[in-house]
Amino acid sequence: MTQRTLVLLKPDAVERGLVGAILARYEAKGLGIAAMDLRVIDGDFSDRHYAEHLEQPFYPGLRTFITSGPLVALVVEGERAVEAVRALNGATDGIKAAPGTVRGDHSTSGSRNLVHASDSPESAAREIALWFPALDPTPGR
Ligand code: CMP
Repeated sequence: MTQRTLVLLKPDAVERGLVGAILARYEAKGLGIAAMDLRVIDGDFSDRHYAEHLEQPFYPGLRTFITSGPLVALVVEGERAVEAVRALNGATDGIKAAPGTVRGDHSTSGSRNLVHASDSPESAAREIALWFPALDPTPGR
């Protein structure tokens, strides 16, 4: 089942020069890029993206971090792309993330963890509409 998912290469990934290495992992897996943009977001946009986390104790720090510099937003497309990208990214906490994953290989943090990916097809549809309103969340369009 071909899907699309929203992926963020967070400001730490851009600052550390890991954009190309992370994209190469998705491409090597056989996934494609349907949209991609380098941008800086403000606090209001962060609140919309992370709507379900607004009340979490970690959210103020996450908001400061995600708005701190340029990030790369992209829509990744391919077979079961939601699950595939989350498997490639690894667990949220870089220490717990398995070696061989993006976070397991490159992060020791549970917050500066390089990447975000939609956690379900429903989240993907919402997040793609927020970040790329002109793009159809359905593959191949
Ligand atoms: P992300 O996939 O972008 O979705 C929510 C983000 O919140 C997550 O990655 C982490 O960056 C951050 N996060 C989740 N849990 C914690 C935590 N316990 N402490 C700090 N940040 C967290």
